Amino acid sequence: MAQGSGYGKVILFNEHFVVYGIPSIASAIDSRTIATVEHVPKGELPAPSGREGSMAGDGWVMEDDRPANPGYKETKKEQQKRSIELVFEAARFDPRKRNVRIHLGGDLIAVGGVGASAAVCVSVARALNTEFKLGFDDKRINEIAFIGDSAYAGTPSGIDNTASTFGGLLWFAKNHQKGPNTMEQLKIKAPLRIVMGNTLLTTNTEAAVAGVRERKAKFPEKYDAIFAKSRELADRARDALSKYDIAEVGRLMDENHSLLQQIEVSHPKLDELVGIARRNGAAGAKMTGGGLGGYMVALTPEMAVQDKVATAMEKAGFKALKTTIGV
Ligand code: MEV
Repeated sequence: MAQGSGYGKVILFNEHFVVYGIPSIASAIDSRTIATVEHVPKGELPAPSGREGSMAGDGWVMEDDRPANPGYKETKKEQQKRSIELVFEAARFDPRKRNVRIHLGGDLIAVGGVGASAAVCVSVARALNTEFKLGFDDKRINEIAFIGDSAYAGTPSGIDNTASTFGGLLWFAKNHQKGPNTMEQLKIKAPLRIVMGNTLLTTNTEAAVAGVRERKAKFPEKYDAIFAKSRELADRARDALSKYDIAEVGRLMDENHSLLQQIEVSHPKLDELVGIARRNGAAGAKMTGGGLGGYMVALTPEMAVQDKVATAMEKAGFKALKTTIGV
């Protein structure tokens, strides 16, 4: 039996824009998914328990005990199953020859916006690698997770699996010429506290990405102008982070939220959470990840502000996750 883990992530700048090669900034968060993989002798594979999130395929069975938003596991069941099968395929591992039992746990909540699907792919690929001594390095784990995550995100940029595999604070740009993506670890003076506000709405990243693609094709001038702003914003954000200019980082997060609203991937509940964060002293706030529900992120460098923002979100009926980036 072997274990593997994958970090959750938060995108600080330029989700969606990143799909088109615009640089983005993301960070691993201090919560992860832990997968356990066990080689089971042929004919001894148990039937799935039938609990929420349990599933089986040809030669494998999986139980899912991750904390989750209500309804998430049922809604995502088909995508999750396909994602596990893609991980097997990418790892050139045939579960029909060597049966496996998978268990998912850890403290990362299964919900849109925190890279939950990528964290499953990374953790399962790692556990599989150890259990069967497949000899993969992190680069290979990352490639496998990218393929696995495509079951969820359609044409993912690769930012989620990259943050989930390597951790840290990352500058990431997808390469459109089939060459390797650009990934740089960014160093900051000290870790930063954030609050992630959970709308409790299950989202569909693939649909959100497809919506942007459609509108971008329909309104090219409008979208080109917004995309140009997002490109410029990435450089300013990188500069502000390297100078540890928190006020500027916060302002730029606010600007990024506005661009994301303009490409119609926010949601009234995300905007409400952003408003709560700003009114309670956050340096900046924006939606994060695929949008249309899921999570938003508020920059709250001081512990007192972090507490205040999280409490205000919970009072308004949302869930809040206090965590740190740049560790
Ligand atoms: C999802 O976490 C981030 C998106 O930009 C999609 C992607 O990059 O693959 C919306």
